[in-house]
Amino acid sequence: MSDTRPTYDFVIAANRLPVDRAEGENGTEWKRSPGGLVTAMDSVMRGRDGAWVGWSGEPGEAPEPFDDSGMHLHPVALSAEEVRDYYEGFSNDTLWPIYHDVIVPATFHRRWWAAYRTVNQRFAEELAKVAAEGATVWVHDYQLQLVPAMLRKIRPDVRIGWFNHIPFPPVELFAQLPWRGHLIGGLLGADFLGFQREDDAWNFQRACRQLEGYETEGDTIRVEGRTVRAAGLPISIDFADLESLARDPEVQKRAEEIRESFGNPQVLMLGVDRLDYTKGIRHRLKAYGELLRDGEFTPPDVALIQIAVPSRERVEAYKTLKDEIELTVGHINGDYSTVEATAVRYLHQSFDRAEMAAMYQAADIMLVTPLRDGMNLVAKEYVTCRIHDDGALVLSEFTGAATELGDAYIHNPHDIQGLKNRIVQAIKDSPEERTRRMKRLRDAVRSHDVQKWAGEFLDALQAVPSDEAQKAAGA
Ligand code: F6P
Repeated sequence: MSDTRPTYDFVIAANRLPVDRAEGENGTEWKRSPGGLVTAMDSVMRGRDGAWVGWSGEPGEAPEPFDDSGMHLHPVALSAEEVRDYYEGFSNDTLWPIYHDVIVPATFHRRWWAAYRTVNQRFAEELAKVAAEGATVWVHDYQLQLVPAMLRKIRPDVRIGWFNHIPFPPVELFAQLPWRGHLIGGLLGADFLGFQREDDAWNFQRACRQLEGYETEGDTIRVEGRTVRAAGLPISIDFADLESLARDPEVQKRAEEIRESFGNPQVLMLGVDRLDYTKGIRHRLKAYGELLRDGEFTPPDVALIQIAVPSRERVEAYKTLKDEIELTVGHINGDYSTVEATAVRYLHQSFDRAEMAAMYQAADIMLVTPLRDGMNLVAKEYVTCRIHDDGALVLSEFTGAATELGDAYIHNPHDIQGLKNRIVQAIKDSPEERTRRMKRLRDAVRSHDVQKWAGEFLDALQAVPSDEAQKAAGA
């Protein structure tokens, strides 16, 4: 039977759809999916007549394709075993630690790798059905590294881009992967590969040269008569859209309510992360707890809101982290809260955009302390919401964002004393100094927003000569 579904000139593939399926009291409900990828790609897709291929977030059969917020969504099915082996296993317990400096040890299982290959093949086949003749296909992230080559094999007519939302590791770490050659081969099926930083693109090129013997020149790699380009292109957010939300009087009123709920402290600090060991939440809490212990400040003059969005809760390292964080929060509150004032308000939940914009407005100091992070869009969201050019961003040097946001209070989160010093400096600097920094931070995000990023990515993808043109030139 022939497939009569519509096809699209612009198709993206990501592990998750922008909405997750949840079975609620009133039947199937769709909730916005967690993470920076969805935040960014949601606004890129708006206004384009494109399709998004991804998993619905629940094991079992895939729902029929449907439309949501003007996007055509094409769910890909994952069985319960594939969720365990491809998503929780290979993606998040093998690749994730290797790509994040082995902050926790990586686990290697051949069964997980087999599931990764099977699921990547399924994505490639779905893309091949959804993409129109000569379409542009944009594949996202580390969960789908084999898709470019698999898709090219079925549909050599489409143009294929891939963007990595997380870091690409140094060759010494990448080399640990028993399937490293397959991953490189999978990626080199693309025409253009985008990375968060130039350093990530160089790491990839080095892996191609040293581990697989490919020839590289500048930012290109020669692959069987074709040229593949690999370059740094830092992702961003929809500045105008979020800023206008931050200017909404309702949001500003809510920000005041939040501050009042703490008794209007002199300094309200905020941390917002998926509950992930890469985010440096333990280091942040340690620094904060020590500052309280040292008497640098005390509640109710100071308070910290820590939002920890639930994530990958069946992966062991995430379970351990959750226990550690909750124990530490308990210790800090036990030692330093008063009957009236809580030292840390810990929220293991996610919040909608308007509530987040209000929290960013309420917070004097934003603590972003990852041990390794591809970009960290929370840092960019915070500065976007500081419409009065006040507030301070304390930002880890190990985030992609630090490359662009050098006017933040940059620190090394492993250096607890250094982190404490930066927090104190952010509090004690004059309002003029904080404003000087914040203006520059806001300019940096405003002038390189997500639309600019997507435009640059798609221009770079179109600029790579087609296979035919390359063959003709080489003949
Ligand atoms: O950017 C890394 C990433 O895995 C994205 O794919 C996603 O936006 C986010 O983290 C959330 O992860 P997960 O889909 O595993 O909940």
